[in-house]
Amino acid sequence: MRPARRRLLPAAALAVAALLATAAPAVQAAPTAAAAAPDIPLANVRAHLTQLQSIATANGGNRAHGRAGYKASVDYVKAKLDAAGYTTTLQQFTSGGATGYNLIADWPGGDPNQVLMAGSHLDSVSSGAGINDNGSGSAAVLETALAVSRAQLAPDKHLRFAWWGAEELGLVGSKYYVNNLATAERSKLAGYLNFDMIGSPNAGYFVYDDDPVIEQTFKNYFAGLSVPTEIETEGDGRSDHAPFKSAGVPVGGLFTGASNTKSSAQAQKWGGTAGQSFDRCYHSSCDTTANINDTALDRNSDAVAHAVWTLSAGTVTPPTGTVFSNADNVSVPDSGAAVTSSVPVTGRTGNAPSALKVGVDIKHTYRGDLVVDLLAPDGTAYRLKNSSSSDSADNVIATYTVNASSETANGTWKLQVRDVAAQDTGYIDSWQLTF
Ligand code: TRP
Ligand code: ZN
Ligand code: CA
Repeated sequence: MRPARRRLLPAAALAVAALLATAAPAVQAAPTAAAAAPDIPLANVRAHLTQLQSIATANGGNRAHGRAGYKASVDYVKAKLDAAGYTTTLQQFTSGGATGYNLIADWPGGDPNQVLMAGSHLDSVSSGAGINDNGSGSAAVLETALAVSRAQLAPDKHLRFAWWGAEELGLVGSKYYVNNLATAERSKLAGYLNFDMIGSPNAGYFVYDDDPVIEQTFKNYFAGLSVPTEIETEGDGRSDHAPFKSAGVPVGGLFTGASNTKSSAQAQKWGGTAGQSFDRCYHSSCDTTANINDTALDRNSDAVAHAVWTLSAGTVTPPTGTVFSNADNVSVPDSGAAVTSSVPVTGRTGNAPSALKVGVDIKHTYRGDLVVDLLAPDGTAYRLKNSSSSDSADNVIATYTVNASSETANGTWKLQVRDVAAQDTGYIDSWQLTF
């Protein structure tokens, strides 16, 4: 089954209605392309990892929350950013009786009402140096921030980078940051990009299945390298994007795998060793500078920069092929009233495509009972399927093509399903629109 996308759950939509009313547009649509991102030098990223390893070695072998190695890691990253012209802020919090730190770095300029953030947790577990988890993300985000400075980038959006404390204790630092952001500040966040473990030695290439524009931006980057990607499934909500997502901020990110095992199909497409963990040193003492796949670190670091460059430009055209979906189940009452499932479409300009693809997955024990329509944001109905007393097959699993070129793309689209005959029943499992 398709992994569930949890965008705008009906319940959550109610809870955050006030927030949405003032929310900044997510990663925005417009006519021209952003300047190409630079190649991020692998040697520079590796040099940061060498420094983080030395810091761990000099401080009892780790960089964990509450230990000297964590604060030394923060000081190292902060000094680089200060020298590059960032405005840095150390945010203190307390967890388990020890002081923790988030490091926030703002790049001066850009629209203060549209803030793009990229972040990584900088703490390790206490059992090791945490070079893949998560020196890798921390170093790639640092080097991307330094590349922004080298380019003297003047993006349309305001750029903010973050290194989180105490992730390993339960996302403590990132939760603290989000909880302490005023609602007005939260609503200015156009997106949060998370990088936690991006150099796993037996790497996979996983993209978070969250905001569709962010997801497509990463997928396009890897497609350009002819590197296949998969949706991240090792633990949604297990890293610092989770508090942002809960607050209604569009999120995305990259991951090369932790303790899960690489399948033979994955080894075939990505190389590496089937039947072995993506990272055999996950959360252990062997997570050192030797525990890094340079190719994966290099590609993912470049992908970080690509996303920061692309998504910080207000002039980004959302990639064609962006999928907007709703996977929340909606039961269809037997021989009853029509029900709908909503998909909000944002960040587009102009009208919908003349060949809009509508993917429908309805589970039902007699599909002839069902009348299915697509409702445009203005309420115009497009019939996808009529009822038929002789069509006794199960389920409606199909992709329909609709000429929607007279409809404004942005707005809430609905799938409407009505069951017109008694006895057999079912539910909308999921549906999607491809713009
Ligand atoms: N630090 C994360 C953790 O220990 C690593 C991780 C596991 C992860 N699964 C993930 C990060 C999925 C991102 C996405 O839980
Ligand atoms: Zn981690
Ligand atoms: Ca029925």
